[in-house]
Order: sequence, then C-alpha cells, then structure tokens
Amino acid sequence: MKIVVIGGSGLIGKKLVPRLHERGHEAVAASPSSGVNAVTGSGLPDVLVDAEVVVDVTNSPSFEDAAVLEFFEKSSRNLLAAEADAGVGHHVAVSIVGADRIPDSGYLRAKVAQEKLIQSAGIPYTILRATQFFEFIGRITAQFPTDGQTVRVPPALIQPVLSDDVVAVLVDVTLGAPVNGIIDLAGPERFRFDEIIRQFLSATQDKRQVVIDTHARYFGAKLDERSLVPRGNSHIGATRFEGWLSQED
Ligand SMILES: NC(=O)c1ccc[n+]([C@@H]2O[C@H](COP(=O)([O-])OP(=O)(O)OC[C@H]3O[C@@H](n4cnc5c(N)ncnc54)[C@H](OP(=O)(O)O)[C@@H]3O)[C@@H](O)[C@H]2O)c1
Repeated sequence: MKIVVIGGSGLIGKKLVPRLHERGHEAVAASPSSGVNAVTGSGLPDVLVDAEVVVDVTNSPSFEDAAVLEFFEKSSRNLLAAEADAGVGHHVAVSIVGADRIPDSGYLRAKVAQEKLIQSAGIPYTILRATQFFEFIGRITAQFPTDGQTVRVPPALIQPVLSDDVVAVLVDVTLGAPVNGIIDLAGPERFRFDEIIRQFLSATQDKRQVVIDTHARYFGAKLDERSLVPRGNSHIGATRFEGWLSQED
C-alpha cells in the first residue's frame, strides 16, 4: 500500500521509510525539502493521491511557545483536511508520553493540541506516544541551568527510548489497524535525571558536576517526579542507554 511519511527527512522519518519499503510497501517521504509543506498545505493534495496511510513525524523548527503551537495546529489541520479529501484510512502520529501532564510546557501544550485535532477529525487514527529519544538527551542536558561547573536538574524520572526502537513499533502501528487511541512506548530503564545526565556528561568527557535542584525546570516547565514516565501499560524498547552511549563514543 501507499504510505506517506510527512517529516520523512527527520530523525524518525528517515529510518521509517526504508523499513516500510523492506516490508513491501510504497513509502513516500514528504517534507519541505521535497516540496510538501504541511503548514502552508502546499504539495499535500498531490502527494496524498492513492495514499492509504499517513504518518506524521514532523517537528517544529522553533520550540518557542507560540511558534510551536501554530506549527502543530496549522500542520495538523491541513494534513487532516487533505487526508479527508484523499480518502486516507489511517492517520498515525508520534506524540510524547505525559504530554497532557505538563501544562506549563509550551511544546507539550502544542502536542496536546495536535492530539486533540487528530482525535476529533473523524479519520481513523493511532497516536504513538514515545518518551524522550536517546538522541535528545544532549539537548535536554544543554537546557538545564548551569552555574560554573554544576548542572542543576529536577528530582524527576525519565525513561528514554532509542529512536530505532520507536521506529520498530511505528512500523507495526503503521501497518496495523487504527486503534483510535493512544499507545505508550518507553525505554527499558527508568533513571533519575541526575543519574542519566551524569552518564551523558561522563561519556562526552564533560567534567561538570550534577546536582538535584527542586527549582530546576525542564524546558521551562516544572516536573513532578513521574510527569515524563508511562503510567500503566506501555511498549518497551529493547536498547539500554549505556550500550547506545558506548557505541556513540
Ligand atoms: N525528540 C524526542 O525526544 C521526542 C520524543 C517523543 C516524541 N517526539 C516527536 O517525534 C516527532 C518526530 O521527531 P524527530 O526528532 O524525528 O523530528 P526531526 O528530526 O526534527 O524532523 C522533523 C521533520 O519535520 C519536517 N518538517 C518541518 N517543517 C515541516 C513542514 N512545514 N511541513 C512538513 N514537514 C516539515 C522536517 O523536514 P525538513 O527536513 O525538510 O525540514 C523533518 O523531516 C515529533 O513530532 C516529536 O514531537 C520526539
């Protein structure tokens, strides 16, 4: 079947497209660099001709509160309208575990807005909510406050997952029947922030110390201990963080 991957040139999209080809499907990567812009709508009607499934793995170029909300609202509205016109039978999107638990994060408010548009559009859908990707730990580390040689992190838990493990589940979700609901996915290990950031700094030869600070924020948002980790049932990726870190060295 024909599957259009919107955001097909991104971290997840670039890995997903060849995996769908291997399974015998016509997977088309679409993004601004290939002439398809979900925010303006340009190129969408053409790329969606004969598509049975659309996977939305776009991301906003800006994480600023208003810009990210505008990105996910406009892109989702345009995509869902174009899919309705084209008769697409399954809309798949990747969101974030706990997105609805951290209302003071502008990025997560935008992901919740995206989810709500999908849920109310009337197109059969599956939302795969993943935890933070291993590849994102560097960006997470960089946004924590640092004074001198000390990085300050909140007393919260994180259960990150490797992008390849996300893609493995995403292939099954894409080729399966729509669940009209949300599926959670996390990595195999749960860390306190200070533990994982210490591991990351050590692997990157960064000599800074890590301390827990109840005032430290996560991309500007206050976290509860369990805001970012799954509650109840979730798929679990196979790859352990330390094994991945040692390969990245
Ligand atoms: N990072 C994490 O830890 C994490 C965790 C859970 C869920 N997620 C979610 O996973 C999804 C994919 O993330 P990712 O890291 O793979 O993203 P990414 O590497 O930043 O890739 C973003 C993709 O979006 C495309 N894009 C940007 N603007 C677009 C537009 N106007 N129209 C169509 N496509 C556009 C980009 O195309 P160009 O290359 O052409 O610009 C690129 O292909 C995101 O929705 C994110 O919220 C991320």
